Amino acid sequence: MDDSHELKSSFSRRHFLELIGLGAIGVTAAGSIVLSGEYLSPNVVKEAPMRFKIGSPETFPPGSVTLDKDHKVFIVRAKEGYFYALSAVCTHLGCIANWKADDGIVACPCHGSKFDREGRVIDGPAPRPLQRFSMSLDDLGQLVVDRSVVVGEETVLKV
Ligand code: FES
Repeated sequence: MDDSHELKSSFSRRHFLELIGLGAIGVTAAGSIVLSGEYLSPNVVKEAPMRFKIGSPETFPPGSVTLDKDHKVFIVRAKEGYFYALSAVCTHLGCIANWKADDGIVACPCHGSKFDREGRVIDGPAPRPLQRFSMSLDDLGQLVVDRSVVVGEETVLKV
């Protein structure tokens, strides 16, 4: 083997090792930046707002029960036309209940609790009725639900 070949081979090996070293430093730096970014940015779980609009009264036919999944609320419009909002969160262990139109009840899929359309417990293990939330009309005639305000069973919104 001549000297020039040995020198060239040695240079290539050294050059290769330098590239690996630089690559490792680059990967480490990139990882540090990503981890720093995750540490500095807030780890926020986006919750649906407590007070929200659900539309105009005409969009809810009399006698209807409509589940708003995003806000975990049933919008109930009685046959007489008035409204109330029931929590869809089961009072047993917090599963989201469903409206069973054929049976005219709210049923929890987790452990079988049943509620009437007023939110009263028909069948346990749920220990309490579904919560009823404040409803109002805004200046534009849109229905507004406020989950931060729990109201009594007799409270309805007449429109
Ligand atoms: S969470 Fe609804 S019955 Fe258990």
